[in-house]
Amino acid sequence: MPTPDIATFVAALPKVELHLHLVGSASVETVLALSRGHPDSTVPTDPDALGRFYEFTDFEHFLNVYRQVNLLVRTGADIVTLLDGLASDLAGNAVRYAEVQVTAVRNRMSGIEFDDLAQALADGRALAAEKYGVEFGWIFDADSRLGTAGAEETLDFALRYRPEGTVGLGLAGMERGVSRADYAPVFRRARDAGLHCLPHAGETVGPAEVWAAVTELGAERIGHGIGSVTDPRLLEQLAARDIALEVCPTSNVCTAAVPDLAAHPLPRLLAAGVPVTLATDDPGMFHTDLNTEYLVCHEQFGLGVAELADIARTGARAAFCSAELRARVLDEIDDLVEAVGQASR
Ligand code: ADE
Ligand code: ZN
Repeated sequence: MPTPDIATFVAALPKVELHLHLVGSASVETVLALSRGHPDSTVPTDPDALGRFYEFTDFEHFLNVYRQVNLLVRTGADIVTLLDGLASDLAGNAVRYAEVQVTAVRNRMSGIEFDDLAQALADGRALAAEKYGVEFGWIFDADSRLGTAGAEETLDFALRYRPEGTVGLGLAGMERGVSRADYAPVFRRARDAGLHCLPHAGETVGPAEVWAAVTELGAERIGHGIGSVTDPRLLEQLAARDIALEVCPTSNVCTAAVPDLAAHPLPRLLAAGVPVTLATDDPGMFHTDLNTEYLVCHEQFGLGVAELADIARTGARAAFCSAELRARVLDEIDDLVEAVGQASR
C-alpha cells in the first residue's frame, strides 16, 4: 500500500458514529422533496432558499428551524426514507455502526403514531444492514421543550415497543433554563429497565449541567459536553469514570455554541485525558459528514494518523453495540494503521 494522504486514510478508517439526530441527518435533496410535497410547510422548496434557511444565528434559532423540518416527516415511509439515506451516507464514510437519536414524541406530533414508528425503525434497520452493511442502534431522546412529561412518554414508547437495536434514553433540545436534575426520576426508570443514559449536556452551558448529567442522571456518555472544559475536577472525573464526550465540532460552530473552530475546546479535552468521540449531530443541516469531522481535527488541531485512529477506537469502545461488532471494528482499525505504518517505513 503506498503512503496514503490523510484524506485517503480518514476515508478508509472504520468508524462508529455515536451522536446524530435522524431528522437532522436528512440530506438537502430529501428535505426539498418533502417540502415540495407539503405546500403548507414553512420549509423552503428552493435549494438556495433552503441554504439560507440553514444559516443559524444561534442555538435557539437552530432548534426552531429543526422543529420546522421535523414537521415535514409525517409517515412511517418518510422515516424509512431518512434511514435509507442515512445508511447510504454512513457507508460512504466507512461507518460500521451508528446510534441514532429518534425523537418519538416529536414524530408523533407530526403525524406518526408509535406503532408506525416502531415498524418503520424495524424496516429501516433491516434495510440498512442488508443494503449497506451499517448497523443502527436507537437512542430515544426527549425534547426538553416538552418537559419531564414528554420524557416519560418517550421512555414509555421505548419500553413498550423496545425496537430491536434499542440502546437508551437521551435528552436534547434547549439547555438554558433546563435543569438536568429534574429528569432524574425518568432516567432512573430507564436505568432500572436496562436502558443506557445518554443525555446532551454542556453543549451551550457550562460544567454544572454536565455534573448534573453524571451525578443525577447516571450519564454513561455525554452529548457534546464541551462546557466541561472550564472545570479541571470535572475533566478528571470524566477521564477517571471513562465517560466519553460525543464531540461535534462543525455543529458547535454552526449553532454558535463556539465562535469558531480555533476556539473549540476539543484539543484541551484530549489533553486532559477525557475520552472523546467525533460525531456530526445533524449532518444534513450542517453540511458535514464524519470524514469531514476527522479532517477538521487534522487541519484545525493538527491531529495525525495515530491520534485520529485513537479517536475512532474511543468511539468503538464507547459504543453500545455487540462485543463482536466492537472487536471487528477495533481489528479493522488496527489493520489499517498497520498497513499505513508499513507503507511509510
Ligand atoms: N436536536 C437536534 N440537534 C440538537 C442539538 N445539537 N442539541 C440539542 N438538541 C438537538
Ligand atoms: Zn445532538
